[in-house]
Amino acid sequence: MKYLLQSTSPAKKSVDCLSVAVWSKNRVDTEDSDLPAEALAPIQAILRNGDLSDKPGETLLVHAPAGINARRLLLVSCGQPDAFDARAFRKAVRAALGTLLKSGSKEVVLALPVTRIKDRDAAWGLTQLVIECETAAYRYAETKSRKPESPALRTVSLKPPAGLARKQAQLAVTAGESIAAGITLARHLGNLPGNLCTPVYLAQQAAALGRKYPKLKTSILDEKQMKKLGMGSLLSVAAGSQHEARLAVMEYKGSARAGSRPYVLVGKGITFDTGGISLKPGAGMDEMKFDMCGAASVLGVMNAVAQLQLPINVVGVIATAENMPGPTATKPGDIVTSMSGQTIEILNTDAEGRLVLCDALSYVERFKPKTVIDIATLTGAAVATFGEHVSALLSNNDALATELLSSGQNVLDPAWQLPLWDEYQSLLDSNFADIANIGGPKAGTITAACFLSRFTAKYHWAHLDIAGTAWLSGTQKGATGRPVALLVEYLRRQKA
Ligand code: BES
Ligand code: MN
Ligand code: ZN
Repeated sequence: MKYLLQSTSPAKKSVDCLSVAVWSKNRVDTEDSDLPAEALAPIQAILRNGDLSDKPGETLLVHAPAGINARRLLLVSCGQPDAFDARAFRKAVRAALGTLLKSGSKEVVLALPVTRIKDRDAAWGLTQLVIECETAAYRYAETKSRKPESPALRTVSLKPPAGLARKQAQLAVTAGESIAAGITLARHLGNLPGNLCTPVYLAQQAAALGRKYPKLKTSILDEKQMKKLGMGSLLSVAAGSQHEARLAVMEYKGSARAGSRPYVLVGKGITFDTGGISLKPGAGMDEMKFDMCGAASVLGVMNAVAQLQLPINVVGVIATAENMPGPTATKPGDIVTSMSGQTIEILNTDAEGRLVLCDALSYVERFKPKTVIDIATLTGAAVATFGEHVSALLSNNDALATELLSSGQNVLDPAWQLPLWDEYQSLLDSNFADIANIGGPKAGTITAACFLSRFTAKYHWAHLDIAGTAWLSGTQKGATGRPVALLVEYLRRQKA
């Protein structure tokens, strides 16, 4: 999709559709739309008729509108101006795009009020508009022989907001495109089935990013190399699978300062989670193809970071394996030795995410990281606690946690913190090893993080459990691309 910043009056452009905000009490927004008087009168007649509800997010499509050159006019209810916050803005934009895409419009003008968002600036509004456009237009087609029709929408014209320099406006738009490309990559990889998206395939995607961006280098460790490093925990997860495990390491060097310590991301990449010998029940098991969404989000973020050319160093690691039962699979009660030297009693082979992450978390010590963030579809308990709206956050460093919470809040990709208190650690006691891989029926998201915390004591670390937010179920089934937006926002705030 193409985005044009043009100061031409929206009413003068001959496009397929012009969308215009309507505030409550039928007040048409003239500040952003510049509608001439002859266009306003008929619109006001329509609104007086009560054809468009006051509720934010309602839309009305008007054909052959008088007084403007567009073939259609889309009126978008934005509610009360003093309640028009970031969320109301997003709701209005989503509603507008839903109607726009259905209308089959190719060229549109979006004259939505980015300058009127109560709690954000116009640059934020522009970036968000672009992300919403790309997100709404995404269609999964890879494995369909009858391809879904991709939306007709090609060109989106935006008016440079008053009070924002042209250059800043352009930067806001290109930032939106880069972030959206990262989100789309994460969604696409998440949606691929487990028979295509294998550990080797995911690692190849990491290698492909290395070829695409000069500042990004990828190296891939195979099972033999991981064995040499002592990654007995990670390898135990892959033991039952025909597919070999991989650890992909992407190093992005954007900092001009020598020795600038990197920000490290580690993603859980279980390309299918059957549960292993502790087999999961059959219902809904297909959704365990999404168990690599943490890794997919790391690939999406690395893509965005490289496209945005952020002036920092970032290392993205994906720990990827398939969790299968079979004659060679790890069994409950088996004890493995992790790269850290700690022994682990595997009481449940379905708690495999932490087993691949712990070795990756030990591996990244070598980068002397400024911070380490792992991203994982780790526990059903996170879904039970938070549902699909918010990711769980746990951390051994309050400043890092606060920064991540605020980043998520800012880009409407929120996280919420749970306590990582010592009181929970004893739930992981084992009679036969240094630590057990499950903590029993209580506080599942917290005990999973407690397990990881045993491997992250040497640096500032945060854990995002995205089990509830990474994909939607039911008729909406599909990967969301979360938390790419949160992580890119966090990285954009960092200095070399
Ligand atoms: N990938 C799952 C977590 C999951 C479950 C995510 C459902 C989204 C929806 C993870 O590997 C897992 O199976 N976790 C177990 C841990 C338990 C055995 C301690 C869980 O949450 O049930
Ligand atoms: Mn599992
Ligand atoms: Zn899993």
